Amino acid sequence: MATIQSIRGTKDILPADVNKWQELENIARKVSNQFGYQEIRTPIFEKTEVFSRGVGDNTDIVNKEMYTFADRSGESLTLRPEQTASLVRSVIQNNLITENTPTRLFYIGSYFRYERPQKGRFREFHQYGIECINSPYPESDVEVILLAINFIKRLGITDYKLKLNSIGNTETRNKYKTALTDYLQQNKHNLSNESQARIETNTLRVLDSKNNNDIEIIASAPSILDYLDNESNEHFNKVKEILDIANINYEITPTLVRGLDYYSHTVFEFQSTYLGAQDAFGGGGRYNNLFSQLGGKDIPSVGFAMGIERLLLILENIKENNTQPQIDILICTTNSDYLKYATELSLFVRQNCPNIICISDVNRRSLKSLLREANKLNSRYVIIIGETEAANNTITLKYMQENKEQITINKNKLIEILTA
Ligand code: HAM
Repeated sequence: MATIQSIRGTKDILPADVNKWQELENIARKVSNQFGYQEIRTPIFEKTEVFSRGVGDNTDIVNKEMYTFADRSGESLTLRPEQTASLVRSVIQNNLITENTPTRLFYIGSYFRYERPQKGRFREFHQYGIECINSPYPESDVEVILLAINFIKRLGITDYKLKLNSIGNTETRNKYKTALTDYLQQNKHNLSNESQARIETNTLRVLDSKNNNDIEIIASAPSILDYLDNESNEHFNKVKEILDIANINYEITPTLVRGLDYYSHTVFEFQSTYLGAQDAFGGGGRYNNLFSQLGGKDIPSVGFAMGIERLLLILENIKENNTQPQIDILICTTNSDYLKYATELSLFVRQNCPNIICISDVNRRSLKSLLREANKLNSRYVIIIGETEAANNTITLKYMQENKEQITINKNKLIEILTA
């Protein structure tokens, strides 16, 4: 009998890999707790309308990607494609709102989208995310972004882009949609079939097209930022102002609209060049109307979610490309008589070059074994101190990474080289 394989687009997380998952989840929990966020867990499946009403009937997620089925009583159920809509359902149902105080929640779980599997894209994938419920103010948008950045940094990811945009309030979007539709209709014959179909159903998503012709046409399309009304402008300006104060780098991206319908005002995405076509490893934004779409009263909120598989892919890539030296200098002596000179030299280097990692031998080892150690530590340089160097107050500097050349120089020249 043929063996049974797992479903396309799903993956077993095997014992050899589970540590990486646990480490990432531990960091997510720690950072969330430090920012005052508490964990919530909701069922893996929900009534279909949670997502059709929440995420939006005209989105790709609801239209093409949901795992929807009738259960034995004929009720339409859906495996959650994301967390925000079901979390809001739960917050309303369990009455988790306190007046004038945000409810801060985080989650880690698996989500399901019927997408074409490729690198970084799965049909079952995992997210870590947070939601700051019940705050209309730009300070909460920034809190959420700062938490995301804190998490990313603690994972060890430093090379990423934060793309930022505002899609304004409902009035802004309605006005902009009319202007964008006009523009796209005028250029319709040059757009891809997919974008042509979207002009009427999901106009903003045309801005997201990856088709090269479309991208050229979109480059001259009206910008949503020119349509922001006073309220939307004020909100966005404040978000940018606080991010600037916090020294956060971002790229204003007027074409960033995201794939879910519930957003208003701030939207953002984290992108990494390590990921190829699926370059977004996290995204989020403000959603001021989702609660009322799911039957509650309006509760302005903001949050983000990150794809755990994509984060782990980035971390793997960083590790593979990490040929960075672990240390900069190993100071060796040819004889223990010169250890005093070596100690003085290490103090001098540390004092003058605070960013240089400098280790001095303290075990009186032979030069041969120290050179082996330097290779193992991937050191950039080795400094050798022998009789001549000690007598002349010089050092011999050996380049370990490039041509393995060695030069004899004085201490000041060494600092010059190290700080160049
Ligand atoms: P999203 O952009 O649809 O947003 O998903 C967030 C992240 O989940 C993506 O950036 C990506 O890393 C990961 N992801 C999405 N689909 C897949 C897939 N098929 N395979 C692997 N990873 C995937 C949301 O889900 C919103 N609920 C985020 C949010 C929270 N907005 C406000 N609060």
